[in-house]
Amino acid sequence: MLTTQSLGPRAFLKSLGFALDKRPHQIDRLLLKSLSPGDAEALRMIWSTRNAGFSDGLGTYLIPKTLKQAALQFSYDWPRAVATMDWFDEVVRRLGPTSIVEMGCGAGFLLGFLRNRDPGVHLQGVDAARNLVDIGAALSGHALIAGDYLAAKPDRAYDLIVCDFGFDMARFKPSTTPHSIAACAGAQYCPGCSDDLKVQFDAYLRAWRRWSHAGSHLAVAGRLSNFGMLRAFVLAASDAGWLPCLQVSTVLTVKHDQDAERFPALLFVPAGADPEAPDMEAIASFFNR
Ligand SMILES: C[S@@+](CC[C@H](N)C(=O)[O-])C[C@H]1O[C@@H](n2cnc3c(N)ncnc32)[C@H](O)[C@@H]1O
Repeated sequence: MLTTQSLGPRAFLKSLGFALDKRPHQIDRLLLKSLSPGDAEALRMIWSTRNAGFSDGLGTYLIPKTLKQAALQFSYDWPRAVATMDWFDEVVRRLGPTSIVEMGCGAGFLLGFLRNRDPGVHLQGVDAARNLVDIGAALSGHALIAGDYLAAKPDRAYDLIVCDFGFDMARFKPSTTPHSIAACAGAQYCPGCSDDLKVQFDAYLRAWRRWSHAGSHLAVAGRLSNFGMLRAFVLAASDAGWLPCLQVSTVLTVKHDQDAERFPALLFVPAGADPEAPDMEAIASFFNR
């Protein structure tokens, strides 16, 4: 008999109710059908205002109240969730942390997966959407923290801080610096956009660092979809005392319905732990290869 512990990410998500074989319009229908009439109406309104460009659509996070609803809500993104779960699993196996905290844990899918893989690891998660955190409590086995991780008070120091698409680029302000073009190892970017984003990432990295101890690692996968964004994140991490480890980091490509999405999955080690910390040219080459 298969135990959930032996399930890979895809089978694990399926066991939670993810609609893996459905097209987006079919997921829309299943999700609406799973909701109360009031929540279905609220979701339709969020979709309409988002599609018309009047809102960022982040209100969709507040809709799911049950695991089934959350699984359907996140089903649009399942190839990404499978790819990143696989990578985080590899990182955890390599590092063997005794404690892990996830920033922007949503409904706790990654925490639930990691718990099944190794029930001995102490897991925690933080998310701004209380409804998702309440769902995640059942998956992770205990109450998670509801709140803005930029302000939340750490409950202890963790060996590994993870963030699996747990930040939303829609929350970041556009750059106010005039555009220009620079290149680093062949990767073109706008220095003003990258520098202005770095200042905003500083607040994230400083906040996440507060959940760590001197030897903690950081593992992050997210929509850093061009080199300027990656540069901004790496510079902010470096200022927070974390340097990228390119041997364990990778660039993942996943197919969504018709499109393909490419994004980095990055392991950061505590500054001082890796004598061969890569320079920005090596990071650009890693991203472009
Ligand atoms: C794209 S979802 C990903 C959720 C989850 N990591 C997953 O892969 O299923 C982004 C999540 O990050 C959370 N988030 C974004 N910014 C946050 C912040 N400043 N504090 C707490 N949670 C945040 C959102 O509430 C949302 O649940």
